[in-house]
Amino acid sequence: MLDLNGITKTFGGIHAVEDVTMSVASGEVRGLIGPNGAGKTTLVNLISGLLAHSAGNLSLDGEPLDRLRAHQRAALGVARTFQNLRVFPSLSVAQNIDVARYSGRGSAMVDAAIAEFGLSDKLNQSAGSLAYGQLRRLEIVRALALNPRVLMLDEPAAGMNEQETDALGRSLSWVRSHSDCAILVIDHDLKFIMSLCDRITVLNMGTVIAEGAPKDITKNQEVIDAYLGEADERAA
Ligand SMILES: Nc1ncnc2c1ncn2[C@@H]1O[C@H](COP(=O)(O)OP(=O)(O)OP(=O)(O)O)[C@@H](O)[C@H]1O
Ligand SMILES: [Mg+2]
Repeated sequence: MLDLNGITKTFGGIHAVEDVTMSVASGEVRGLIGPNGAGKTTLVNLISGLLAHSAGNLSLDGEPLDRLRAHQRAALGVARTFQNLRVFPSLSVAQNIDVARYSGRGSAMVDAAIAEFGLSDKLNQSAGSLAYGQLRRLEIVRALALNPRVLMLDEPAAGMNEQETDALGRSLSWVRSHSDCAILVIDHDLKFIMSLCDRITVLNMGTVIAEGAPKDITKNQEVIDAYLGEADERAA
């Protein structure tokens, strides 16, 4: 459904994303992992249209996205959350969600998602008053309110404890059973990624070094050298 072909982004002399070709199917949950600076967030910025790619092309259901701006891609169902949270702090929780609800394709599942992500009793609070874990969940519900074809989550479990991460995983499984959107999820918590994803793409220095089922990725020597060793150190 989402097809990237030779997508490249350079910042001056830095090749942040280099010749990335990948396809994500409808209903698939795809993990995107790699060391700090590997290009994961840049790739999400290129897909969502926040940044323009330097080379390559990308399409959604065969429809080219290359010339579309971020809001046009959002209207087609390209939704994302931000590594550095970007809610509208002075708007209420409900208003934050409505911004997306009325920008996108219209969604029947928003009210159920609000309940599933534990925001039902927060709707009239200003978003700026929410606790961190609630803000992360609001970002996801806001993205879901676009009725996405592709939902991209940039480190949704960052800063969460194990219990919160487990609850997030269950809510994302709920999303998966209520929508046929593709989910692209970045996280450094490998237990979370491995249990959630059908397939995993590994980036290192802007390029894809591996793609496959979770059990194959953990056995891939190049992945272990580039990333899993570092992740072990992080865990330690
Ligand atoms: N706007 C920018 N201008 C210049 N360089 C940038 C810009 N955005 C990202 N980069 C560089 O591109 C590379 C990839 O960064 P990116 O943020 O995509 O990595 P990441 O995989 O998301 O890392 P992390 O796990 O730390 O979030 C890094 O070298 C980064 O410094
Ligand atoms: Mg990042």
